[in-house]
Amino acid sequence: MSIEEVSELASPAPVYGGAEPLLEVSDLRVRFDAKGRRVNAVNGLSYHVHAGRMLAIIGESGSGKSVSSRALMGLLPPTARISGSARFLGTDLLSLSEREMRRHRGADLAMVFQDPTRSLNPTMRIGTQITEAVRAHGDVDKRAAFDRAMELLQLVRLPAPERRFYEYPHQLSGGMRQRVMIAIALAADPKLLIADEATTALDVTTQAQVMELLLELQERLGTAIIMISHDLGLAASYAHDVIVMYAGRAVEYAPASTLFSHVRMPYTRALLGAIPRLERTPHSLLPVTPGQPPDLTALPPGCPFAPRCSRAQDDCHAEPPPFAEHEPGHWWACWHPCEVGGPAEEGGR
Ligand SMILES: Nc1ncnc2c1ncn2[C@@H]1O[C@H](COP(=O)(O)OP(=O)(O)OP(=O)(O)O)[C@@H](O)[C@H]1O
Ligand code: SF4
Ligand SMILES: [Mg+2]
Repeated sequence: MSIEEVSELASPAPVYGGAEPLLEVSDLRVRFDAKGRRVNAVNGLSYHVHAGRMLAIIGESGSGKSVSSRALMGLLPPTARISGSARFLGTDLLSLSEREMRRHRGADLAMVFQDPTRSLNPTMRIGTQITEAVRAHGDVDKRAAFDRAMELLQLVRLPAPERRFYEYPHQLSGGMRQRVMIAIALAADPKLLIADEATTALDVTTQAQVMELLLELQERLGTAIIMISHDLGLAASYAHDVIVMYAGRAVEYAPASTLFSHVRMPYTRALLGAIPRLERTPHSLLPVTPGQPPDLTALPPGCPFAPRCSRAQDDCHAEPPPFAEHEPGHWWACWHPCEVGGPAEEGGR
């Protein structure tokens, strides 16, 4: 896929009324201290999401996509040291106690993971798992919980919901299990849904169906969605906004249509430019740009992409570029950004 093809996929960003963001993440940092090693997994990540928008977070493996999202949900192990702020509905999620966080989790905030087989209880019928999720967040009797569970299964378009309700997870296909996970996540009408590689394990057709479903639910219910993905094509097709992460930082952030047509960050351009060289998998995972991501236990003093960047100059190795809004709505972190419409092969070495 060429840059032009990816940018054609990106739909124009819908205009929204400049309301307060639903979630505003500022200078999020997460490090793990274990066995004498310090892993700097997230290093000053800032972004915001508005109600009714879908934000895609893309980046290579290990760039901190999952850790940063789990930090918001209070789902990191005790070895994690977290700082910064994440304002959500007037509350800083990072300052909540475990008990307060449990109240938010599943209610205002929900997360869907890549592997539904690990999130669903294999010994419990599908219907029971959904009714339990409904009852966990509201004072409803059995009958009302059953009705709501059936409604949710219809909402996520599970085929033959009356029959599936009484089946066990192993009797469902991967796509159906993912729909059940989304139904459970929606049980309490969350304002924000985080989908971490939620469609990666699915075949391309089912993946597209689940993405269409998320988009439709978002339009209907006004839910904000953070979609974490390796898949640039998927981000371009469905997300309103895209954030590109590298070494635990945001390096480029813009409405999808802007990002893919006016790439400024050499790293993003390297990802896009490398796609035709990709040995295509059914999921068109992010291509591997030449070189290795930096060691998160010893980050370089300058731009973390410098060792792999074809535009790097001496100053890049001295000081990290600030992540700033250089054009309205378009943020990047680079001392020597690419020219708009510049050569597609520019970016990585
Ligand atoms: N519990 C932990 N202890 C120590 N390091 C961790 C822990 N969890 C994650 N990390 C490290 O934090 C970094 C970021 O991991 P993260 O899972 O967020 O990456 P990712 O962008 O989601 O990657 P992927 O695309 O493979 O899912 C990685 O280097 C990872 O090894
Ligand atoms: S030009 Fe410099 S600052 Fe920009 S990505 Fe390359 S190394 Fe980093
Ligand atoms: Mg991950």
